Amino acid sequence: MEAFTGKLWAKQDRHEGDRLRLFTAVADAIDVGSVLYPGSYVDIAPSFVFDTVTYVDVDGRAARFFDDRRGVDAIVDRHRESTDLSTWQFVHADYTDRLDAVPMDEFDLLISLYAGFVSEHCTEHLRVGGHLLVNPSHGDAAMASIDDRYELAGVVQSRNGDYRVTDRALHSYLHPKASVEVSRDLLHDLGRGIGYTKSPFAYLFRRIS
Ligand SMILES: C[S@@+](CC[C@H](N)C(=O)[O-])C[C@H]1O[C@@H](n2cnc3c(N)ncnc32)[C@H](O)[C@@H]1O
Repeated sequence: MEAFTGKLWAKQDRHEGDRLRLFTAVADAIDVGSVLYPGSYVDIAPSFVFDTVTYVDVDGRAARFFDDRRGVDAIVDRHRESTDLSTWQFVHADYTDRLDAVPMDEFDLLISLYAGFVSEHCTEHLRVGGHLLVNPSHGDAAMASIDDRYELAGVVQSRNGDYRVTDRALHSYLHPKASVEVSRDLLHDLGRGIGYTKSPFAYLFRRIS
């Protein structure tokens, strides 16, 4: 493994095992074979849990990291519990552009973590019935909440570094603290999330159309 790869992964995994715990909780809650992760940077933890993952990032360091295939595979092998084959690809691209290398209506899970409005640009790659895992910090959870293609299917709660997915009392989530009309324009202007009365770590939306 190149020193660069190990160093970047160590920095990414500074809260050791945090993302492994997150994705394990998601895998326990829903059926997922294939995953699309736009704005992944070097977060390869989905490959510890899911069998097929497509990573997309525009960043040159991410491209260099994924170029070290043997190094990335070694990290995945070290963390993966399943004996099923893990396959992954990296697409060095801006996800707001057309991603010709990425199939449409195909993926079981679309991941949007701290990487802008992924749902706005990449939902067509998710199959109907598939899920979006999205956290609120960049406004993408709010964006999904006003997107007719989605319904809320669960929330991911975090406590003491552990994650748990629940679909209980979903009606009590996504209520803004302040009285605002959430719209795409507002979210683009804000460039960050809306303050809600309840604040889980992340949300799971199901694509319904
Ligand atoms: C803050 S990092 C988050 C990385 C990872 N999702 C995580 O949670 O650890 C945001 C990443 O999104 C990428 N990104 C932001 N906008 C993008 C775009 N339009 N296309 C591709 N990658 C993008 C950046 O290059 C960066 O690597």
